Amino acid sequence: MSETETLLLGQVLDIHTDPFATAPEAAARHERHGAVLIRNGLIAATGPAEALRAAHPRARMIDHGAGLILPGFVDAHAHYPQTAIIASWGKRLIDWLDSYTYPEEMRFSDPAHAGAIAARHLDLLLAHGTTSVASFCTIHPASVTAFFEAAAARNMAVVAGRTCMDRNAPAGLCDDARSAHDESAALIGAWHNRGRARYAITPRFSPTSTPEQLEALGALWAAHPDCLMQTHLSEQEDEVAWVRALYPDRRDYLDTYEAHGLLGPGAMFGHAIWLSDDEHARLHDSGAALIHCPTSNTFIGSGLFDTARAKREGQVVGLATDTGGGSSFSMLRTMASAYEVAQLRGSALHPAQLLWLATAGSARALRAEARIGTLETGTEADLAVLDLASTPAIAQRAARAETVWEAVFPTIMMGDDRAIAATYVAGQCMQVPEAGDHSRKVNPLIADSLGL
Ligand code: GUN
Ligand code: ZN
Repeated sequence: MSETETLLLGQVLDIHTDPFATAPEAAARHERHGAVLIRNGLIAATGPAEALRAAHPRARMIDHGAGLILPGFVDAHAHYPQTAIIASWGKRLIDWLDSYTYPEEMRFSDPAHAGAIAARHLDLLLAHGTTSVASFCTIHPASVTAFFEAAAARNMAVVAGRTCMDRNAPAGLCDDARSAHDESAALIGAWHNRGRARYAITPRFSPTSTPEQLEALGALWAAHPDCLMQTHLSEQEDEVAWVRALYPDRRDYLDTYEAHGLLGPGAMFGHAIWLSDDEHARLHDSGAALIHCPTSNTFIGSGLFDTARAKREGQVVGLATDTGGGSSFSMLRTMASAYEVAQLRGSALHPAQLLWLATAGSARALRAEARIGTLETGTEADLAVLDLASTPAIAQRAARAETVWEAVFPTIMMGDDRAIAATYVAGQCMQVPEAGDHSRKVNPLIADSLGL
């Protein structure tokens, strides 16, 4: 037996099949007294605690009691440079970008600022049970380096890219087609597939790129098809009208990307709300992913993404915070918001569907489902352990639960970082609770960046 075996004990909830494609409860296996065996950073087995204890008597044991062991959350779209301006009051998209976002992003020319915010962002994610993120950076290569370095220091599997803009933004945040291409190419060489990192070619969105820049980035993606591509699509109606005016020769917003080689498997389109039927069909046929950012969509007043429709169509759908347009770092809060938005569109998402979107669904959007987002044997041991009674209000509701779904749903709807009992990255515990003191749950190893 290897010295490095660890056995986590707790409730284990394994959503092994897409719960939109089958009856949600049939998509999951729940083990009330379960265990996850970790060996060399990978999930080596899951199953009943008794059987795994008997088979691995010398494994180091960590008992999470009634804690619910899940895959770590995967945030499929975020802006780490907006960490410090989250929850800025009172603007719609374009105004919000001009007033809050761009002035803050200017500061990322300073590598020290970029490094401090990257560390803070990733530690906030770990404190919220999120183990992977696809993040935009800023136009500054140093902002990308800082983020990948901070992720490597935590051994986190992240996706990130240099945000490219060559018009309709402050001069200090604008590049041109060539520098966007060349600096992105250099960062791909430095970071793509280095350790757990992967690179996403990142035009911010069509209004801030010339057709020449989109063409250059499309060519770059063709040269590096194994990279991802992330951008924004059809978030607000005003934005769609603006794109129509800026690109009179393109048939619709999606075509501004499609015509330049930026539509295909591995493309991740944030928001994707105001789409025609034809755009829906082309997105589906391309294998691209739609990234649902519900707290952002309600916070900035963008609109109501139709999750049920997208999944019925067979789209790849990921779930994301979109911080700082989104109003929370928590994927629990994001699931609650997705539930509420779906209710307003006439469907009630099952807890299995919400949890799947936040783990395997987002992992699929990142084209990483073979490595993260599930409890499958052989995948990387990125895990979140939920305390299903983390506040008195949640505890009193969960006490009445008769099924695991009833037990977990109050935490989805009302939970926050207090519900995260532990976070594991590649088998290493990054976040540990101190009994009875919810304000001090952050591992001292990562507390510095939060100023705690
Ligand atoms: N569209 C272009 N840039 C952004 C951004 O930073 N946040 C959001 N929510 N939408 C965008
Ligand atoms: Zn965004």
